[in-house]
Amino acid sequence: MATEDQISLFNLPATNEAQPPKDFDPEQIPTSAKVPIPAGTYQTMEQMLAHCSRCFRCDLGQNRKNAVISRGSVQAPIMIVGEGPGQNEDEQGKPFVGKSGQLLDKILASVNLVAEEDVFICNVVKCRPPENRTPTTEEAEACKGYLLEQIRIVNPKIILLTGATALKGLLGIKQGITKVRGQWIEQDDRFYMPIFHPAYLLRNQSRERGQPKWLMWQDIQAVKTKLDELRAG
Ligand code: URA
Repeated sequence: MATEDQISLFNLPATNEAQPPKDFDPEQIPTSAKVPIPAGTYQTMEQMLAHCSRCFRCDLGQNRKNAVISRGSVQAPIMIVGEGPGQNEDEQGKPFVGKSGQLLDKILASVNLVAEEDVFICNVVKCRPPENRTPTTEEAEACKGYLLEQIRIVNPKIILLTGATALKGLLGIKQGITKVRGQWIEQDDRFYMPIFHPAYLLRNQSRERGQPKWLMWQDIQAVKTKLDELRAG
């Protein structure tokens, strides 16, 4: 379908308000990166998956086995944003199911958070970059509409950004993660915190004070404290 025809599917203003396109049809959703994904395009992750599985907004779609949308609860108060699917995720169609994911689940469990209940886990890009390389800025931009829709649907109060790619991809902040990790960024009525990517912790195993694993322990405790405060109202 030509880009103009795809654009004509959306006679909607660019707005953050949810305005679902009339007669939603996953087969007819634009797959050109030139066509924005308006807020309200999706009502469910299943609808998004149906589209992402056919998406060629960037070249990552060429090699995917599965589009990787999310795991966890769509009612979760905490969203965790990773970089992009790896081999295990591509094969299973779920984010963070390999070694990094197992560590992430352990980190969450250390403060009594259950991955399938308290958090919603997703990535900046929904298809696996070749050789697990970092997604390019263009790939992240082409996929950003999906991520924004996930945030709109889940409406988490807390968003954890694992690593520099997630920080840049979502908030456009280009600072190194070591400088900004553990700091709350308040924006759009949400609390964002950049944290180390679990893969970085797998490469830096020391638990000594001041080392990445120790810092992550500080950060996840701060996240739990914030969640408890928010729940207490
Ligand atoms: N790393 C990520 O950033 N995301 C995944 O889903 C898996 C590993």
